[in-house]
Amino acid sequence: MELAILFDNRSIAPSFLSGWGYSVLLRPQGLLFDTGSETASLLHNLKEFGFSPGEINTIFLSHFHWDHTGGLLGLLPELKNPRVILHRGFSKGFVREVVRLGGEVVLADQAAEILPGLWTTGILPGPVPEAALVFRPKGLVLTGCAHFGLLELLKTALFLLNGPPSLLMGGFHLLNKPLKEVRTLGLALKSAGVRRVAPSHCTGAKAEKILADIFGDDFWYVGAGSFLSL
Ligand SMILES: [Fe+2]
Ligand SMILES: [Fe+2]
Repeated sequence: MELAILFDNRSIAPSFLSGWGYSVLLRPQGLLFDTGSETASLLHNLKEFGFSPGEINTIFLSHFHWDHTGGLLGLLPELKNPRVILHRGFSKGFVREVVRLGGEVVLADQAAEILPGLWTTGILPGPVPEAALVFRPKGLVLTGCAHFGLLELLKTALFLLNGPPSLLMGGFHLLNKPLKEVRTLGLALKSAGVRRVAPSHCTGAKAEKILADIFGDDFWYVGAGSFLSL
């Protein structure tokens, strides 16, 4: 499978735009994981990769924060009635707008297979209703902001994958965490068998540095414009 990071706080090449938020396109499934904070950069980066909006048939929203949903309403008119998978953590007004713009809303509050091999974790316990995505055949775990905490996610991922993730990727939400705690967390992930990490978005530069020390070559520095083949 291929992962193209369409939206991130940083870009890895000057031709890709950056902005606060996160979005990743999964190919060949044609699934868009979150939508960043606005549509123009999202579409710009999609085209910069050489892809077209027409290949997006499913949109998965992790949680109802503007930096993950802000690109959606402007994107929907470009698409052909995509499935929009979300959960009860989204406002009624937002869901109404999605439907009005042609989205076919699917509510998934609990763990469920949404495309072959691709699972939503369902809403994980935490301060904000948020779900993550797991791709079983490749051991991929994708998180938007990880407000639930990475250990909570790891617990569910271990269960859904029947083993440790081979790649944990996304916003790790460690910006304000004491660095000692970040180190403990990184070591816990490593010893639980997490093979590779590709954090960005709300992870924080200092936290990333600590994770890079722990994971070595298995720490992947990524941003908008990153293209990963698994
Ligand atoms: Fe975020
Ligand atoms: Fe968030």
